[in-house]
Amino acid sequence: DNKLPASLRCIVNKIEDGSIKNVVTLVGAGISTAAGIPDFRSPSSGLYDKLQEYNLPFKTAIFDGSYFEQNPKPLFRVLRDCFFKTHPKPTKTHFFVKLLEEKGVLRRHYTQNIDGLDRLAGISHDKLVEAHGTMQSAHCSECQEVYSLPWMMLQLESNPVPKCAKCPGVVRPDIILFGEYLPDDLTKRMKEDVGECDLLIVMGTSLAVHPVSTLVTSMRPQKFRIFINKSNSGNRIPGVDPCCGRRYEFPDKQVWVEASSCDVIMYGDCDDCIDLLTGWLGWSESLIELIQN
Ligand code: OAD
Repeated sequence: DNKLPASLRCIVNKIEDGSIKNVVTLVGAGISTAAGIPDFRSPSSGLYDKLQEYNLPFKTAIFDGSYFEQNPKPLFRVLRDCFFKTHPKPTKTHFFVKLLEEKGVLRRHYTQNIDGLDRLAGISHDKLVEAHGTMQSAHCSECQEVYSLPWMMLQLESNPVPKCAKCPGVVRPDIILFGEYLPDDLTKRMKEDVGECDLLIVMGTSLAVHPVSTLVTSMRPQKFRIFINKSNSGNRIPGVDPCCGRRYEFPDKQVWVEASSCDVIMYGDCDDCIDLLTGWLGWSESLIELIQN
């Protein structure tokens, strides 16, 4: 126990005694890398460093709404080759969020990921905000006919751009590209959730994209935040003060922790950090059961 920073021990105690009961989670591509999907911005392994062959006018063009309208092929190719070829499954970190729900403490799960693994982990519809949409469903951009991910994957085996069966329209996944409108109620919901939140857990995101990143900066003072990211301390998390003081090392898992009075930063692989966190909470067995069932 004395190997844990005081703020982390306090968070664990408060979850145990029921005084933390509104946890909000915010995740990004880093929680799906263990499922074989690259993230976007990690140097060399991230998607944005692997797109030279696409001759894009700018790095993020592939996820840009206006660019997609002119040239939809690169997006479909990336979705086919990088997102779904390996039939990804939810990771331990996805199941940890489901476990928070089962333990009755999850208020909301915000995911920026379009892979749909949060749904596949069983996180309930009313707890889940897919802020950038999902690949799990698709629709015709002209007649709005609805299609599924398996249908789209089948199409992409033989066509670079899937076309509607009922009209000449392009069938596009239900994802929100840069420059397109986010869900109407997103910012209202974020405001309500952040107002009620006792603990924010941020995992595997660079926090580079608005508006979900503002969940971090709009937290009230004296509320707890846990950040989990593999980046080292040279790569500071935006909106988070450097946590000075002791560095707590967990060499078995290649994880280290820094903490201030309300913020805990866990540096390491998400799944390794989740192993530690569930251990401290006494939830390791429940997590294994959840994954196995
Ligand atoms: P990024 O690629 O920007 O950030 C992923 C973060 O996860 C980085 O900070 C990595 O250090 C960290 N990371 C990677 N693997 C990890 C692991 N195994 N364990 C712990 N941390 C790990 O991805 P996002 O923050 O999700 O938008 O990007 C946000 C948005 O930008 C995406 O939703 C997408 C993109 O452009 C759209 O497509 C609209």
